[in-house]
Amino acid sequence: MAHSPVSILSQLDFNRQPLQEELLMRTFHQLMDEHGYVLLCNVTEEFDPVRLCRSLGDFVPNYTGAVVGDVRPEPGMDDVYHAGNTRPLTPHSEGYDFAVTPPRYIALWCVSPAEGPGGETTLMDTRPLVEALSEQERQRLLDTDYAWKTTEGVQRLGLDLHTRHPVLEDHPEGPIVRFSCNNLIRDDDDPVAELQDRWHKSFERDHVAVDYRERDMLVWDNWRLLHARNAFSDRNRHLRRIQIAG
Ligand SMILES: [Fe+2]
Repeated sequence: MAHSPVSILSQLDFNRQPLQEELLMRTFHQLMDEHGYVLLCNVTEEFDPVRLCRSLGDFVPNYTGAVVGDVRPEPGMDDVYHAGNTRPLTPHSEGYDFAVTPPRYIALWCVSPAEGPGGETTLMDTRPLVEALSEQERQRLLDTDYAWKTTEGVQRLGLDLHTRHPVLEDHPEGPIVRFSCNNLIRDDDDPVAELQDRWHKSFERDHVAVDYRERDMLVWDNWRLLHARNAFSDRNRHLRRIQIAG
């Protein structure tokens, strides 16, 4: 079941004036700490999403090298699992295929919303799921190095990435969850297969669905939340995207 987002921040105040930057960022961080994501709404044309991202940390380039990436249907990509088409994406964390620590934050903002149904970004907090693990399972997920591959779409860009990481990592700056329904390489009888199934079902049951208006901006903690996307039909849907290091 889809829930409406609750962690929403208005760029305009009650007088329809832009919120003072210091107050905007203070509330942003309070909401981020509590919920692991923030949806910024009532965004004016003058607002600079790249500037907000810069205040969160260093930029991590997208696969193509572009720092500000475009998420929109790309020619010749309709037959693969890839963000650059109109098909659904299954729950995952970003950057499980990076050799380095995954980006801490992902920011998406809407240039052109999808007309008609679909196209929502969907999110789920893994914190309650990690807390529900038995000590034995948690330890196994911290200790077992799994092989990860990149998506078919990224392979078609000429990048064939292979890494090894555990699903859970205790990083000095906080716990990291890496997750994919389809790019974690394992045998069918590996216990992580059951975890993938369990978390995928939890996601379907409990996710938050973000339906964008023009200029809305969504930022989430990629060490903590999983994200996915609903299919859509409007090929003019266009988001921009920045990844930010911890
Ligand atoms: Fe993603």
